[in-house]
Parts: sequence; structure tokens; C-alpha cells
Amino acid sequence: MPGAALRLLCGVLLPAAVLRAEPLPRVAFAAGDPRRPLARFSLPNVSDYDALLLRGDEDELYVGARDRLLALAVGGPGPPLATASLPWAPTAEKASECAFKKKSQETECFNFIRVLVALNRTHLYVCGTYAFSPACAYVDLENFTLVASGRGQPFLDGKGQCPFDPQHTHTALLVDGELYAGTMNNFQGNEPIISRSLGGRPALKTDAFLRWLAADAAFVASFSAPGDDKVYFFFEETADEFDFFERLLVPRVARVCKGDVGGEKVLQKKWTTFLKAQLVCAQPGRFPFNVIQHAFALPRRAGRADFYAVFTAQWQAGGSAVCAYSQESVEQVFEGKYKELNKESSRWTVYGGPDMSPRPGSCSVGPSSDKALTFLKDHFLMDGKVLPGRGEPLLVRAGVKYTRIAVDEPRGLAGTAYRVLFLGTADGFLDKAVELPGAPHVVERIQLFPAPEPVKNLLLAPGKGLLYVGYSGGVLQIPLANCSGYRSCAECLLARDPYCAWDGHNRSCRPARLAGAHASGWLQDVETGQPAAACHRGRSGAAPRARGGPDGAAVETLSPPLHAVVRLPCPRRSALAAYAWQQPGEPPGAAAALLPDHTLLVLMRRGAAGAYRCQATENGYTWTVAHYLLREPAGAEEAPGRPAAGHHRSYWPQFVTVTVLLAVTLAAAACVAFGAYHEQLKARRKVRGCGAAPPPGRPEKEPLRAEAPPPPAAAPPARCLQLRDADADDGAERLPA
Ligand SMILES: *[C@@H]1O[C@H](CO)[C@@H](O)[C@H](O)[C@H]1NC(C)=O
Ligand SMILES: *[C@@H]1O[C@H](CO)[C@@H](O)[C@H](O)[C@H]1NC(C)=O
Repeated sequence: MPGAALRLLCGVLLPAAVLRAEPLPRVAFAAGDPRRPLARFSLPNVSDYDALLLRGDEDELYVGARDRLLALAVGGPGPPLATASLPWAPTAEKASECAFKKKSQETECFNFIRVLVALNRTHLYVCGTYAFSPACAYVDLENFTLVASGRGQPFLDGKGQCPFDPQHTHTALLVDGELYAGTMNNFQGNEPIISRSLGGRPALKTDAFLRWLAADAAFVASFSAPGDDKVYFFFEETADEFDFFERLLVPRVARVCKGDVGGEKVLQKKWTTFLKAQLVCAQPGRFPFNVIQHAFALPRRAGRADFYAVFTAQWQAGGSAVCAYSQESVEQVFEGKYKELNKESSRWTVYGGPDMSPRPGSCSVGPSSDKALTFLKDHFLMDGKVLPGRGEPLLVRAGVKYTRIAVDEPRGLAGTAYRVLFLGTADGFLDKAVELPGAPHVVERIQLFPAPEPVKNLLLAPGKGLLYVGYSGGVLQIPLANCSGYRSCAECLLARDPYCAWDGHNRSCRPARLAGAHASGWLQDVETGQPAAACHRGRSGAAPRARGGPDGAAVETLSPPLHAVVRLPCPRRSALAAYAWQQPGEPPGAAAALLPDHTLLVLMRRGAAGAYRCQATENGYTWTVAHYLLREPAGAEEAPGRPAAGHHRSYWPQFVTVTVLLAVTLAAAACVAFGAYHEQLKARRKVRGCGAAPPPGRPEKEPLRAEAPPPPAAAPPARCLQLRDADADDGAERLPA
């Protein structure tokens, strides 16, 4: 039995407890939450805003949508504005050819823009699927028009640069005026290709006959660090180097050299430097995350980059991992041993023959010998595997499918560079996580759309502090952070958001980049998030007392009438905190009930007045998130007349009146109409001892049943009689004819 299968079996047997705790987003924002407003751009009758390209100064965003190219003015305070719109739909002839080939006229026979690159200051180069007949064109930025190729053809043939099928993944990269593309090269979608075109040199491609790529290779990203002499491609394909009982997908990285010009006798017009290797992203003893969804390269100094990739698992539903690879670890594998296919046994083994110089596939200057090229024809797969940094995933989330990743590197107060991962999901969420020496910290999660749909593209504009999201219905623009949402020093530090720091002079949480070089009086603690030491040291750290509570929670004073039920919400400012109420009374909380969302219901009695504080304890630090002062009821013993102000208004008098009237009416009606059934009917009535009018606008069935403290017994049952709607309806149905 192969090792991989054994590992899988062990994975099934390992208890879940062995796994590292999964990092939860500290704050989650629902779609439309004003704390994380999204600026939206969309045009009527335009869909699939898949391709995004930002001009160098981050002031103009080019968008490739279905049958249309757009130029948007961005980076200002407002939402993106269209400055130019260029329709580019397939001709009627192409569309009907597409339909004739049994492709859908509703969903497929359009021009989905896939390649969108800046050729030079004046021209873009774009390609689209063009109704299953890929086409490319130049865009003159002066007047935003397509430039015809001039040779009778309206557009250039996009075969080998752009997929035929909008469902197929692809990648394209412009380096030194040449287009490097990874895509499907045919209509059937079984001949993948890595190509180089444009520019002055001869076009190059992978050899289809030698099967350098499996027929299902699917490309997700490509990179070349500035100053590097290589181009990397990230993709997915069926592996045939493993004996495995079923189709096994592996994530791969391939490499070609920029200086490659193809062979002379051997490998004419083909890459002479193509090598590929397996990427590993797995937790020990678990199913590997073997399906790569997307990758991102974060350039480092000296022509190097770190690669970040998001993975899902072939055999495990709902779960994603992020793995990071240094370019050195990738290079090391490409410097290692080659695999070769043993023709007799049809098995892949390690090549054990003599070394050659220069090494086949290396980016050495000077022509390679025919011998080296012949060797390369069937030694393109490396034996070593590329392992992630620290040997394991950076981040693992169950039940989340990441589709896109972008990584930013903001500077913190002390000049430290932090790496912040922006992760888009298949159901329309954006997770923001900061990479830390220990476990990563998920700062926030933002729901992007009201209904689930995949994030198709993410593009950072770090200079403007913005992120663009491409999706089926438009483009979203999101600030990388909203520091003013953290309202106290403690919260600002607990958030551990590298973009934010506490400004002691202004007494507000503000963008860390505003601190400048000196940053005196500013506080930030991304690594540990410990406000205790920092915020209470000296004046600068103290939270604004003027607003009441020591942590910025203003005191809300309420004067509820006697017997009213007061609802005291406790805002969940952090999902990582534990919440507890501090309340007066003998014993404390005797007349209170706690809802699952930590809202406290207090029955207003003598002795229930006083200070109520909801406290959050997070990372060893306790802070007040809500602070209420309930006044001693003023009136006499009997039911008060005046409802309290604000959203804790009591509807007690109205409730009592309505309930009593309803009960009396129904009882009378029941007596008259049902006669003999009276007893039976009464038994069906569910009497709820409540004393609590459900707060207005909330579902009636929810309160008071959920948690341990029983409903206050003090309320006289007579006042609490309440017929359940269902029973009332039920009774009406049975009215005799
Ligand atoms: C940019 O590229 C286009 C297309 O190749 C070419 O016509 C144009 O002259 C170039 N412009 C500059 C400024 O190099
Ligand atoms: C930040 O959040 C606050 C509320 O906490 C909101 O009023 C403000 O509009 C938000 N600002 C931005 C730029 O998102």
C-alpha cells in the first residue's frame, strides 16, 4: 500500500483534539454594517467583474467584465466612478458559432475578459474568451478604444494566452514587454500550456506531446519578483507519479527562465528551462490540503519573494489552509534531484545518473548542449517537495472555502513590518489575518454581499489603504481598516490590527501610519495585544473618562417603572472575549435572566436599582463594554403610569391591558361557542409565566426560556396569562359550522 494511503488512514484515526485550536475572527461584520462600509461600483446589465488592474499611482482602476472594459477613477474619498466604458462583445457570427458547438448562449457565449495587463504607459493588452474563440487586443488609453491589428482581422488570436472556456482558470503576467500565460490551449479543454508571447523574441510554449503538464492542469497564479531571472507558475493537476487508487490532485509550482529562447535542433520554440515540483500544505496526520485555489507573491528585497497560497482539500469538505513558501525553499527543490519515468514499469523513480554541467533547466547563460536539452525532455519533474515555512500551514479554517488571497505588508509604530493576509471566500466573506510568530490572529471578518457568492478577485491598493473586490455583480472598495471603530485604548490594542494604533494625544484609535517617525504618545501591541501594561501607564494611555466608564463605555441612566422588565444589551465587541455582568441586589441578579447573546433582562423591583456593567475579559484583560445605571422606581407600590424613556421603554401597562382583554374575550367566546369542549380546549392553552412583555420587535418565543436563571417568580401569574398565537389559531379553526 502506498505511503500516502497509509497517511490518510492515520488521519482518519487521529482524534480532533490533537489539532491546534482554530483562530476565530475577533470581530465579524454583517453585510451593510456601518462600521465597515463598502463602496460599490456596478453598471446595469454588466456582470462578471473578474479582471482588475490598477494603474501605478492607484488613481485609476481598469476592470474587465463580461463583454465590457471599464476605466474607473478610484482612490478618492467617494466610491469608484466610471470614466470610460468600452463594449467588447463577440460578433453575432462568433456567438452563433459558439452556440452551434453546444455552448450556452445564456452563460458561456460571451467575451469574458481574462487577461488585462499594462503594456506601457499608453496601451493595455487585453484578452477575452470571445465566445469560445479567445481574442486579444490593444487598448489605447488616450481615448480608451480597442486598436485593430490591421491585418484584416479585427482582433488578435488569443489562443495560448487566454482560455476558451470561462470556467477554466488561467494566469497571465507581463514581464519586460512579454506575456507569460498559463491557460488551456484548446476548445476541448484538455491541452494546458505555459506560453510566452509578445515582445521581440520567438514565442515559446510547453511541449504537449511530452506531457510536461497533465491534461487537467489548472493555473491559478504567476509571478516574477522584480530583478529575478525566473517566472513561477502555480497550478493544480492530476499527479501520475503516485500509485494511487483514485485520481490524485497535487498543487505544483513550475519555473521557467526569462532568458530562455528555445532550442535550436532539440526543443525548437519550446521552453528549455521548464521544471515543476510539488507543493505541500498539510497538517501532520490529516488529509492534505491538496487543491490550490490561488497564490500571491510578496516581494522581498534582492529579487526574492515569499509565496502565499490558499488550499482546500480533495477529500475533506469545507476547510481551507494558507501555506507560505520562501522562494529559497522553492529554488532548493529545483536545485535537487530529478524524477524520471521508468518506461518498463511505468513508475516514476529518482534519476540517479551522473550530474551534468551546466545543469539542465538552470538559468545559466549560454546555450545548453543538445544532450542537456534531450535530458530535459523527460526530466522536468523534481523529486523534492516544496514544504511551507515551519513545515505546516500558517492558518487552517474548517468550514471556510478560501478562493483568493492578497498580502499586504504595513509598517507598525516601531517600524516593524507586519504581514496581513486578506482572504476572500467562496460564499462572499473577507477575512483579515495578521501573521505572527505564534498562531495568526484573525482581526476581522467582513460579509461582502447580502447573499452568498464567490469572491472572484482581490486587488490591494496599499498606497491608498484600499482593497478592491471583483465579483459577479460589480466591484467593491474597502478600506484596509477602520481604526475609529475601536473606541478605547484597550480595544485599540486588543484588536491587534497592524494598521491601527492608539494616539494618546488625540485619545483615539487612528491609522498607525499617521504616527510618523517619532510616535511618542502612540501605542500599539500587535504581537501580544496586552492593553493592561500600555493603556494604564501614565496619562497618555488612559481611556477617556469624560465619556463615563473607564474603557470608553458611556453610562446609560434608565428610570424604569416598578415591575417593568428592562432589557440591557451587552454588545459583543469581540468574539474572543468572555462576558460577565456585574449587578447589584441581594443575592446579586436574583431578579434577572440572561439571554444567550448576553443581554440581561432585569425585573424592576425594590433593590434592583444600581449599576449594571457588562464586562468582557479578553487576553487576560477585563474591560467594560456596557454600563447602565437603573434608578430606584419613584412611584407608589402600584403599577406605574409613565413608561421609561429610550429603547428600554416598558410596555407593561399596554401589555397588561391587551393581555387581560384578550384573555377575557377569548375565554368568553370559548365558553359560549365550545360548551362541552371547554375543558379540553383549556388544557391546550399554554400558559406562560412571564411577567415580561417581549421587547417590541423581537420574536415572542425566544426570551426567558433559553438559559439557567428561571423567570422571576415574583410576577403574579394572573397578570401573565398569555395565549400562544398558535393555540388561538388552532381554536379558531375548530369553530363549529
Ligand atoms: C506601447 O505599445 C503599443 C503597442 O505595442 C505601441 O503601439 C506604442 O507605441 C507603445 N507606446 C510607448 C510609449 O512605448
Ligand atoms: C468606521 O466606523 C465608525 C463606527 O464605528 C463609522 O461611523 C465610520 O463611518 C467608519 N468609517 C469608515 C471609513 O469605515
